[in-house]
Amino acid sequence: RVYDIGIDLGGTNCRLALVDDQGRVSEGARFSSRGFSRGGELITRIAAECRTLMDQVAGDGDRIGAVGAGVPGLVDAQGQVVAAPNLGVLDGVAFAEELQRLLEVPVAVLNDANAIAWGEKIWGAGRDLRSFLTVTLGTGVGGGLVLAERLWVGVDGCAGEFGHVNVEPEGRSCGCGSRGCLEQYSSATGILRSVRTALEQGRPSLLATLSSEALSAAEVGRAARQDDALAREVLQDAGRRLGQALAGVANLLNLDGVVVCGGVAESLDLLMPALREELYRRAFERPARRMKILAGALGDNAGILGAARFGRDPDVVWTA
Ligand code: BGC
Ligand code: NA
Ligand code: ZN
Repeated sequence: RVYDIGIDLGGTNCRLALVDDQGRVSEGARFSSRGFSRGGELITRIAAECRTLMDQVAGDGDRIGAVGAGVPGLVDAQGQVVAAPNLGVLDGVAFAEELQRLLEVPVAVLNDANAIAWGEKIWGAGRDLRSFLTVTLGTGVGGGLVLAERLWVGVDGCAGEFGHVNVEPEGRSCGCGSRGCLEQYSSATGILRSVRTALEQGRPSLLATLSSEALSAAEVGRAARQDDALAREVLQDAGRRLGQALAGVANLLNLDGVVVCGGVAESLDLLMPALREELYRRAFERPARRMKILAGALGDNAGILGAARFGRDPDVVWTA
């Protein structure tokens, strides 16, 4: 049998696993993507984890066909990282070339949200959609654009950067160098930033009882479900800003849908009322109604599945 390796490198964690041709994901490995002082060290670690999986497969008389990696930044056609706002050590790193040098199988690299979009397209919530945007709400906010069944990565590989759409003219400063980007309000990190600011101002909340290590976007969701006013407000604000940005997407691209993924997607129902209101208020009615808002269907495995598939068949990208 032939397996592919899918790598989902995010701003906080890296996961990798074997994927078979039925879209089954093995247990694989997981480690923190933080704390590497150079991009090369991170790539060396990833290569070592790939080796372990390769040896395991070889021991069973099987082999690896290809390796695909989703990375949290803009990636050009050569697999070089153009910018990585939430994982600075990757800035300018020739990721595909360096990983390829350490492994004797074909390697293909793409943006992490594009990998998730591609996974959802092949195996998940995007299967019946021809043209859609995948939005990932995690450490950052990512975007993956599937247009007419293929990935649109732009002229330089810089398309789909939905997280850096402005939603507040002179708002919170962002890792990309700008201010007021969507990512600063609607990512898990942005949601925590909103909660912390309010707690520092003395707002009462169930969340005030948690230690700063225990405070997470999942806890904010839990508090909101217990009717905590602050938690509800913060999630509605995240939803409102997402709706504002999606109104621009509806008007610009007239898509079939939006697939929302990442940890915060577990709270999507709490974001939806404000998101819908803003979307319908700001976009033309026809494209706003057309654009279905769905939660991703593959959970944590979307990125691994999409990256593995892309490794095997990188030819799914529109050439500008
Ligand atoms: C980066 C994107 C990435 C997203 C999610 C953003 O800050 O600019 O390239 O897809 O975070 O990791
Ligand atoms: Na993207
Ligand atoms: Zn930004």
